[in-house]
Amino acid sequence: MSERWTPDSWRKKPIEQVPVYPDRQALADTEKQLATFPPLVFAGEARSLKKQLARVANGHAFLLQGGDCAESFAEHGANNIRDFFRMFLQMAVVLTYAAASPVVKVGRIAGQFAKPRSSPTEKRDGKELPSYRGDIINDIAFTEEARRADPRRQIEAFRQSAATLNLLRAFAQGGYANLASVRQWMLGFVKDSPQSRRYVELSDRISEALGFMQACGLDLESHPELRTTEFYTSHEALLLGFEQAFTRIDSTTGDWYATSGHMLWIGDRTRQYDHAHIEYARGIKNPLGLKCGPSLKADDLLRLIDILNPDNEAGRLTLIGRFGAEKVGEHLSALVRAVKREGKVVLWSCDPMHGNTITSASGYKTRPFDLILKEVRGFFDVHAAEGTYAGGVHLEMTGQNVTECTGGARAISDADLNDRYHTACDPRLNAEQAIDLAFLLAELLKKVRSAQAKPMPAVAGL
Ligand code: PEP
Ligand code: CO
Repeated sequence: MSERWTPDSWRKKPIEQVPVYPDRQALADTEKQLATFPPLVFAGEARSLKKQLARVANGHAFLLQGGDCAESFAEHGANNIRDFFRMFLQMAVVLTYAAASPVVKVGRIAGQFAKPRSSPTEKRDGKELPSYRGDIINDIAFTEEARRADPRRQIEAFRQSAATLNLLRAFAQGGYANLASVRQWMLGFVKDSPQSRRYVELSDRISEALGFMQACGLDLESHPELRTTEFYTSHEALLLGFEQAFTRIDSTTGDWYATSGHMLWIGDRTRQYDHAHIEYARGIKNPLGLKCGPSLKADDLLRLIDILNPDNEAGRLTLIGRFGAEKVGEHLSALVRAVKREGKVVLWSCDPMHGNTITSASGYKTRPFDLILKEVRGFFDVHAAEGTYAGGVHLEMTGQNVTECTGGARAISDADLNDRYHTACDPRLNAEQAIDLAFLLAELLKKVRSAQAKPMPAVAGL
């Protein structure tokens, strides 16, 4: 029998990765204020996403999840959001068309601010300060003042999330996502990139198909599926005081939902089954993600699945593997086998970013594009071998023309990293690298689709 869950029952459990707030009263006051703010998302939307994810878990669609490692206050602008959304649409259309697979779109956005850190402090030139934990907690500048955890930042993060979400909703529903604009989604700097031809060809084919349907008498305007898209938000449920303030009862069902985002995930450093983050997550009805790194043993995973998804509901739980290109084969296979053996329904997704981070010769934290591709291939190989479904990817990416991950079609080198290295945390794929990856995913997914397709039954006499 599990103990009674309440939105604050996590407070009685041991907890990892908590910032130290010097002013406890100010923190309590802020949390109280946040609890009076309107929700960012509705329970009904979280339920719709869960349904979509259930389709993915059953092999009928693909999950594309991605965005910044950490959103930042300084980079909050309409152009950034628009470029991110355009890149996302491009990736989704590549997957939908080339792999003939519906795509569930989930951004790491409108709330992805808090960061777990490998060390609570950072040392530079003999000086030691608290680590940067994301703009919702402290500032990235290396001064004592900047690194102090300040609860007012939670209010700022909420307001930024609301503004971002507002624009995303307008883009998704207001005509920007119209398939007839498929060519216009191309970003300026991608237009003259080596792989842009592939995208132009694909968009021409889509335009031709739309023209054909129109010529046949189909009124495209009367089909919202062609004019609008569903776009969902997600972030790591790390800062639990903030999450608690946005945990509300859904009046339709009487259930508790996190209303800070549609989908929340638990990070690899905070997934201890008897600790605070898992306690919080088990009680909300949103779809959940769980990061699975190389230290996760099959038995622990099964225990976590029982806690987070006791009813074995499809769409509830997405397992996001982040093992590293060299480890994915062995580690993922062991987990997949155990989950399959126990008959648990999960969505398997691949985060090829967090297990492939290295420090470049020039001192930058980077990720070689080749290793990212290798982990994605390894992920598909494991699922092909085990007879399970490779359901999605979880990426760190931006619509901007940054130089943070090495390699890709333009062969970004160690020496190039310094040109446009802007991330507030981990290195992200730039738009070109992300779209390149989408083409690779489309190829891999196409193979899965053709293997899934059953041969036509033989009919006597025909
Ligand atoms: C992240 O997704 O930014 C992150 C910190 O991942 P993980 O918990 O897998 O290390
Ligand atoms: Co990250």
